[in-house]
Amino acid sequence: MITIRDLDISNKKVIIRVDFNVPIKDGKITDDKRIIESLETINYALEKNAKVILMSHLGRVKTVEDKVNTLYPVSLRLSQLLNREVVFVDETRGLKLEKAVDNLKNGEVLLMENTRFEDIDGSKESSNDQDLAKYWASLGEVFINDAFGTSHRAHASNAGIANYLPSGIGFLIEKELKVMNDVMCNPNKPLTIILGGAKVNDKIGVINNFVDKADYILIGGGMAFTFLKASGIEIGSSLLDEESISFCKDILSKYEDKIILPIDVVTDLKTCFISDITSSEKGLDIGPQTLKLFSQYLRMSKTIIWNGPLGMFEEEKYSYGTKGVCEILKNIDGLKIAGGGDTAAAIKQFGYEEFFTHISTGGGASLELLEGKKLKGIKYEK
Ligand code: 3PG
Repeated sequence: MITIRDLDISNKKVIIRVDFNVPIKDGKITDDKRIIESLETINYALEKNAKVILMSHLGRVKTVEDKVNTLYPVSLRLSQLLNREVVFVDETRGLKLEKAVDNLKNGEVLLMENTRFEDIDGSKESSNDQDLAKYWASLGEVFINDAFGTSHRAHASNAGIANYLPSGIGFLIEKELKVMNDVMCNPNKPLTIILGGAKVNDKIGVINNFVDKADYILIGGGMAFTFLKASGIEIGSSLLDEESISFCKDILSKYEDKIILPIDVVTDLKTCFISDITSSEKGLDIGPQTLKLFSQYLRMSKTIIWNGPLGMFEEEKYSYGTKGVCEILKNIDGLKIAGGGDTAAAIKQFGYEEFFTHISTGGGASLELLEGKKLKGIKYEK
């Protein structure tokens, strides 16, 4: 793939598509990891004396009311992190934007308003409208895609612009692809994958892709209950993904020794073995015996991939399993990779970020990579 290193960007107008889709509460950014992770590419472009034009989406924008999703607070945070002025343009097209781009000097940074403001009138950004892509491309001379979190979507601001300018990927996308490619093609074994989250259906692609590659698949979270039901356990009123039962039965019958299910759970009433869940109870976390069981597999693993929390970790009383896995991973060596928005949020909330080899900045994008898919927002061919 062509990377930013392969392109001549010196003194040029370089459009960098970043993923600044960060959580903002009352005008304050509550997690700036994605901004921080984009700095390497931005700084590299600045070192090359480029005029840097940044584009990003923020949230979903369908109506004029959604225009509250402004990137202005991001421009302020970015300016602090870069320690230089960031010109913010509150438009996504037009004279004001074009003039601001023309006025940019080498080594200066501009952030354009939320690309999805172009979705208000006909979903132009999200439908990869080629006129819009061409227009945005006309603002620059080179295009760098570094928005890993958005790379599972082919939108005008990523796949679109790449059609009209010399294009490459930035350091963040390069890193994310490399980490995932290495563990999928040449993992240090044993390889264990931990899966959680609500629905089996969301993880079928990942299970199918890993069931032969991985040595063990540990299953927790809401999705574990559909697996338990498929193996004949009474799960009470726990989450059930009815349409995935036959998938679970099939995969369990073929890979009985590889797929490890919880043996005990925390319900809304008690902690108990899975055989003791009553019809009115709802399982909301894995129990201590399961954590012990999982730790045996994790301790012998050389590569661990984790996607999906193991319980409803947002509530303290159901955070035991997710926090417990963080603690186990902290104390073991080997490659530890986490992906998925909720998983990353849990790891951050419990303060374990530093103990991971890599925490992906993508939710949907990292899931698609784990499914073995190519990401349609990225130009793969030279
Ligand atoms: C994300 O947060 O997963 C990415 O920024 C993509 O956002 P989207 O799901 O709104 O396209």
